[in-house]
Amino acid sequence: MPHTNSHDHIDAMLHETRVIAPSEEFQARARVTREEYERRYRQSLEQPDQFWSEVAGELHWTKPWEQVLDWQEPHAQWFVGGQTNVAYNALDRNVQRGLGDKRAIVWEGEDGEVRTYTYAELLREVKRAANVLLALGVQPGDRVTLYMPLIPEAAVAMLACARIGAVHSVVFGGFSVSALSDRINDAQSKVLITADAGYRRGQPVPLKKNADVAAQNTPTLEKMLVVRRAGVEVAWEPERDVWWHEAIEAASDEHEAAPLDSEHPLFILYTSGSTGKPKGVQHTTGGYMVGTYLTTQTVFDLRDDDVYWCTADVGWITGHSYSVYGPLLNGATVVMYEGAPNQPDWGRFWSLIEKHRVTILYTAPTAIRAFMQHGDEIPGRYDLSSLRLLGSVGEPINPEAWMWYWRVIGGERCPVVDTWWQTETGSIMLTTLPGAFSSKPGSAGVPMYGVEPALMTREGEELGADDGGLLVIKRPWPSMLRTIYGDDERYRKSYWGEIKGVYFAGDGARRDADGYYTIVGRVDDVLNVSGHRLGTMEIESALVAHPSVSEAAVVGKPDPIKGESVVAFVLTQDGYTVDPTELRAHVSREIGALARPDSIIVSDALPKTRSGKIMRRFLRQIAAGKPIEGDTSTLEDPSVLERLAATPPA
Ligand code: PRX
Repeated sequence: MPHTNSHDHIDAMLHETRVIAPSEEFQARARVTREEYERRYRQSLEQPDQFWSEVAGELHWTKPWEQVLDWQEPHAQWFVGGQTNVAYNALDRNVQRGLGDKRAIVWEGEDGEVRTYTYAELLREVKRAANVLLALGVQPGDRVTLYMPLIPEAAVAMLACARIGAVHSVVFGGFSVSALSDRINDAQSKVLITADAGYRRGQPVPLKKNADVAAQNTPTLEKMLVVRRAGVEVAWEPERDVWWHEAIEAASDEHEAAPLDSEHPLFILYTSGSTGKPKGVQHTTGGYMVGTYLTTQTVFDLRDDDVYWCTADVGWITGHSYSVYGPLLNGATVVMYEGAPNQPDWGRFWSLIEKHRVTILYTAPTAIRAFMQHGDEIPGRYDLSSLRLLGSVGEPINPEAWMWYWRVIGGERCPVVDTWWQTETGSIMLTTLPGAFSSKPGSAGVPMYGVEPALMTREGEELGADDGGLLVIKRPWPSMLRTIYGDDERYRKSYWGEIKGVYFAGDGARRDADGYYTIVGRVDDVLNVSGHRLGTMEIESALVAHPSVSEAAVVGKPDPIKGESVVAFVLTQDGYTVDPTELRAHVSREIGALARPDSIIVSDALPKTRSGKIMRRFLRQIAAGKPIEGDTSTLEDPSVLERLAATPPA
């Protein structure tokens, strides 16, 4: 059985028997019926070339592909020989289809400011930004790092990169200076796009200031393009810094999208793995475009008049695939909200839905649990009747939170689609297409088109239904990552090499008699804190970089809101004392506030085997306040466990 950090939730999920069917009204209008799903799913596995050609054929290609898939395990090429442009498909194509006056982005700042871009306006803006990047010397294939608040310019910058064939690397605005400079250096970015500041809980977050410090350490960086968002004072290096609004104003709004090879890299997005260094997951043009296009329209049952809101920040894969690329490729109206869910109070999301008449909401369990904690009364004050579909992503959703979402937010009227996928998969892999399937609270559901999942042992033995096992995918799919930027060896080892011949996702799962998969959680040293992926070793490296710490071990502890919280066990360096407040601040500086340990346990030893391996299993039990279970005889000194359990966390 894979280890997991939230046994209580899992027990609840395994005993969950509720089945919630979509209403007849929803089913009658749904884009995909059960028969249609069965037929297309079968086709996607039996005649994949035909299936994917039909989907890709709905989009614009400047040169048709010669071959749908070239699979030289572990390297896939999709739509080989074809040329296209993702930004062209998201904008020019939609304007040509007559959607020029349709709203593409409806943005609301934390301070209540609202800005709207039609498809025609967004296209003009992206063309200008493309010309700005070209004028700064950005060439196809060059990397451009974005470190931005969730403002329309972030989407404009991403699409402008895509338009000229530059590879964007978005770094979440909550990451620290050193996390930013590491990512700029790993990608060898030439240009950084940032803002003077963004708003979070009413406070300006000093992005430019962080970027200035990061840039002291980034030899490849030539230019910094700065959006004025907050109007705060910033330092300025005239040789390097360029105001976005000045450059955009001066730029021509004529630009032809570059025809790019289907396998031309589209973006790099850093995510945590089980070793210390974050990995630059690389996605490419054609396959990613087709995958996000198809899943957005089917999973969200997208219709012309929908107002679609995915709450994810563009710093994460969900923000890439389902706030920007997928919905814009489909010509949808996308709502974007800059700030925190509780600013000015816990009614903010519901007020946004009421105000903008949002029809589809896609958010994370951690947010749902936080809302739930503040009661039914707050959402009850708002008119949520525009909603017709709800989605969940990023971590396992416990049935209680699922039911609350369905009942209180969806008024028992809106299907809830739980969607399982990863930074690496690029698009949704498991879900229940609304209208085609009933939902089972806590269970992600069945495979999307072209996805062939299975449960296996580490040795590659396939397991039957009801057996818990490792979740694997047995064949490549268009939007899968192509490599780890600059480290193909790590790509080979991590994904198609762990279990021979299949993609191993790092998650444990179960499957029931109806074929629904329930995700149990990560089976590697990766934590999921508030839906954010964090490597335990990444946090450990940050901790031991502090002079007062000689050794550290980090584990997750079940948390009712965040899913998991970070617990750090640290050993004190001789001659120092550990100051937990200072240590938390240090981790914030090294990685970002999202990685700050919730509890710190200062100790004189860690539970190690005679060969020196830390037994994290026991640390997880101690962190959760559970009795020690399992064989402790392999430990060099089992008495450490009692001492740790007796130490109050700070
Ligand atoms: O453990 C799974 C969990 O999030 C991991 C992927 O994290 P990331 O790459 O940051 O992407 C998150 C957004 C797609 C997975 O390995 N996860 C994601 N969605 C779900 C989930 N766990 C359970 N249910 C989900 N719906």
